[in-house]
Amino acid sequence: MRLTTQQEEMLAGKHSRAARKAMEILVALGTIYGAEEMVPVSSVQIAGVSYDNLGEAGLKFLSDVADGGGKARVLTTLNPAGMDIENWQAMGISPDFARQQERVIEAFARMGVITTCTCTPYLTGNTPHFGEHIAWAESSAVCYANSVLGARTNREGGPSALAAALTGFTPAYGLHQTENRAPSLTIQVEADVADTVTLGALGKLIGEQMETQSQKHIPYITGIRSAAVDSLKAFCASIATYGGAALFHMPGITPEASQYAPPAEKITIRQAELDETLRKMSDAESEEIDFVSLGCPHLSLAEIARLAELLKGQKIKKTFWITTARPTKQVADLVGYTKTIEESGAIFATDTCCVVAPIKGRFHALATDSAKACYYAYAKNKFKTLICSFDEVVAEALK
Ligand code: F3S
Repeated sequence: MRLTTQQEEMLAGKHSRAARKAMEILVALGTIYGAEEMVPVSSVQIAGVSYDNLGEAGLKFLSDVADGGGKARVLTTLNPAGMDIENWQAMGISPDFARQQERVIEAFARMGVITTCTCTPYLTGNTPHFGEHIAWAESSAVCYANSVLGARTNREGGPSALAAALTGFTPAYGLHQTENRAPSLTIQVEADVADTVTLGALGKLIGEQMETQSQKHIPYITGIRSAAVDSLKAFCASIATYGGAALFHMPGITPEASQYAPPAEKITIRQAELDETLRKMSDAESEEIDFVSLGCPHLSLAEIARLAELLKGQKIKKTFWITTARPTKQVADLVGYTKTIEESGAIFATDTCCVVAPIKGRFHALATDSAKACYYAYAKNKFKTLICSFDEVVAEALK
């Protein structure tokens, strides 16, 4: 791989011990994937922040990087942590876990990382533009950045994203290159999809279809007349979870779609399949629900506004977590949504989510509008699930 003088110096340890290690990781990655050079990145999103996933070994690795002089050279934000950093007691988090989680955040802070913990960095200021090279690790955000924003990133892992932050570079391969962004499979949708739950179900259906194909496809999805940001973030989370997708094109909605003609190979998705997919994601009856959560991916301000409208003057009867980014919650505080929501008994689980928080064994059945949350609620925590629309989820909490 061709390296610039600056990159060679990093590799030789002339910047810091941490930068040398980071450049070694990137060179190894680039060699595996046949990259000829590095590309500068302007934005990084690091995953692997929850102590529940990192454990002691992960915390030690991060502390060593910080001790070794590691400093973020570009705008870098974090994925959700295992708890609300300011209000972990209300979530029932143990003091031992909280202490270790705080040490993780401290290590990132020492590296100059912006410690907003969210999977929707694009809603809170880490918002790359069309064609910008970035290095993001969070499958839903990667898919959103590539597809909806038209930025360019591979699906980074925690260490490779951190390495990109500490050097400002990533190897130029995969989705950084124009020739690898063309669609290869047309998905014709002949079903009503519009909100977070139906687009989430569509993401699952397409993702699973892609998994059964011998080739890793980039889908070109037709038949979607319009989709709001909130529905697109739900779709991205779902298609990334169930199909490993990092990029799709949707004519009339995503910015690169107009550069391509629909690929000849085609799959049609009909209403009956979508209904069946939704049905299969629910194995819990309404009476079994003891945990309700909205905010996978993290809620936008518009969604919080809707929630405040639905919960005004009401009292919830089940544990109800609202998961969002701290900057979004701070705006909700200012305009009074937080007060209205908290008066209902619902809890803001800011900086975290129902998947990365350590809640195994605490609940039996989850109600959510998120196809991704359904997947992990079972896979990680063995919860039963009920998927329904945003408004119906709120109704579950009030029952
Ligand atoms: Fe975000 Fe957690 Fe869902 S990280 S996409 S809210 S699983």
